[in-house]
Amino acid sequence: MTLVQAKKLRHFVSLEQYDNHEIMNMIKTAVDFKRQGHFPSYADKYAINCFFEQSTRTHKSFEMAERRMGMQVLDFQPSMSSVKKGESLYDTVLTLQAIGVDLVVIRHSEEAYYTKLIDSEHINCSIVNGGDGAGQHPSQSLLDLMTIYEEYGSFENLEIAIAGDLTHSRVANSNMQILKRLGATIYFTGPQEWYDPSFEEYGTYSSIDKLIDKVDVMMLLRVQHERHTDSDNRFSKNTYLQKYGITFEREARMKQSAIIMHPAPVNRGVEIEDSLVECGRSRIVTQMENGVYARIAIIDSVLKHR
Ligand code: CP
Repeated sequence: MTLVQAKKLRHFVSLEQYDNHEIMNMIKTAVDFKRQGHFPSYADKYAINCFFEQSTRTHKSFEMAERRMGMQVLDFQPSMSSVKKGESLYDTVLTLQAIGVDLVVIRHSEEAYYTKLIDSEHINCSIVNGGDGAGQHPSQSLLDLMTIYEEYGSFENLEIAIAGDLTHSRVANSNMQILKRLGATIYFTGPQEWYDPSFEEYGTYSSIDKLIDKVDVMMLLRVQHERHTDSDNRFSKNTYLQKYGITFEREARMKQSAIIMHPAPVNRGVEIEDSLVECGRSRIVTQMENGVYARIAIIDSVLKHR
């Protein structure tokens, strides 16, 4: 491995940085961690999770992953930090590194906020992207891939629909690229005004009623009200569900083996009928559980390359 490759793998900012073989290795490692229930020990390493946007799953499952590996986890609250005095993200990370932090997980509203950090010759700690604006959410993508792999054992020839708030979703961005690369056929569905022609590189748009009985995976996206303007938000809860969501009638038309996924938080009764969130074909809770193992695999990978 060259020095440049090793430097690249010291951080985890996008799944695009990995080839298919490396991604499959990470998925299989995460599945093994889940099956075996024991994890590499990094008791001498320090982690900090800097979440500048709200999070429950990503924040707490990174923390759970770090603690399962015995890491020392420092608390960070943006509202009580010197960020409030105008300190930049770069200077914040430089400070955390100086006091001995090895791993910094960051969620930030700025797209590709991590570029300045990973390009700097002065930043040696590992940067892990917990979501950058409407850019990418690679750890979510890895846990989604893990969940599909557990179900089907491969991505070749799977038919996968990504449904809903496509333009605002960093989960959709990461997933459409990697799933196509791994051999799946991708479809898009949801309000047409939330579909961008650039997605044609990865799949085709269709109505949910044309896709519902043929796909293996129905990957729902959260309607991201916080990123919408008033004119985007023209759907009532029930209108959205009836036109674009998983109703009881649509769930009944799905293939027997097909699964429903959603990165959560779920708008119950909007993307999916409330009581279907926990139905037999839903893998929404499994995704949350897998998030811990996928993140253990991510942290193990970046720390091994330091
Ligand atoms: N799926 C996801 O990113 O959830 P959180 O915003 O709660 O982390």
